[in-house]
Amino acid sequence: MLRLKGKVAFITGGGGGIGRATAERFSEEGAKVCIAEIDPSVGEKAAQSARTKGKNSDGDAFFIKTNVSDEESVKNAISETIKQYGKIDILHNNAGGSTMEDGPVTEAPIEEFWRCINLDLFGTFLCSKYAIPEIINAGGGSIINMSSNVALMALPGRDCYTAVKGAIASMTRSMAVEYAPNKIRVNAIAPSVTLSDRVKKLLDNSSEIQTISKTHLLGLGEPIHVADLAVYLASDESNITTGQVISVDSGVTIV
Ligand SMILES: NC(=O)c1ccc[n+]([C@@H]2O[C@H](COP(=O)([O-])OP(=O)(O)OC[C@H]3O[C@@H](n4cnc5c(N)ncnc54)[C@H](O)[C@@H]3O)[C@@H](O)[C@H]2O)c1
Repeated sequence: MLRLKGKVAFITGGGGGIGRATAERFSEEGAKVCIAEIDPSVGEKAAQSARTKGKNSDGDAFFIKTNVSDEESVKNAISETIKQYGKIDILHNNAGGSTMEDGPVTEAPIEEFWRCINLDLFGTFLCSKYAIPEIINAGGGSIINMSSNVALMALPGRDCYTAVKGAIASMTRSMAVEYAPNKIRVNAIAPSVTLSDRVKKLLDNSSEIQTISKTHLLGLGEPIHVADLAVYLASDESNITTGQVISVDSGVTIV
């Protein structure tokens, strides 16, 4: 059975890593997907790959250059999705990520704080602001935010990123209550280290990798592990799951 047949998904940062894996899985399960991505060099390739995955399931995908921190850009991407596919059922607020510029509050550059706020938090706020009315028009659906294990446990040295991922977890709960009457479920995924190309580059040559690997009971995650949970949260199987921050973390938060 195709788990997302007939559904339309809007995925931010869908050109790489977790977003791309999710776009591919959604299309494979029969969804039509908008890849709202800032970098055309990866966005178009991800759309092609998602279309290939969807060829036996009526899945489809298109890429639109989008900056999730820019109001006009977000509005344009949402309206283009409506033009192409007629509705939006699923919003995956995925664009985001930490950098090596981050640090303890006394050391982290102020620019890094605002970068995180603008990309992860404001991006999630803006895309929700403009996608929710469309999801309501569609009769309800699912919003999947991206939090992180850093919202659930202390992770020294990433205070800018920790702040926004904690805020996203909190906003997930309030949104779940606000939009339940509209049959919209709002959940967040909290991955720990997931080996997207960006994270592989960050960890390359870093002594941290050995320490990190030891605390992950089942090994480090791959984008597909997060994408598989996103399929569940996007599908009708998660009909009464809302307001949750769900870990995909190889047990790192329990040791
Ligand atoms: N990979 C991990 O270890 C990990 C762990 C916990 C949480 N997360 C979260 O998962 C999400 C995806 O992480 P990833 O590792 O796959 O990242 P990634 O860098 O591999 O992919 C993110 C994509 O977002 C795009 N993007 C960046 N800025 C954008 C903008 N302003 N508008 C639209 N698109 C933009 C990038 O071009 C890229 O294609 C992020 O929110 C991240 O914080 C990742």
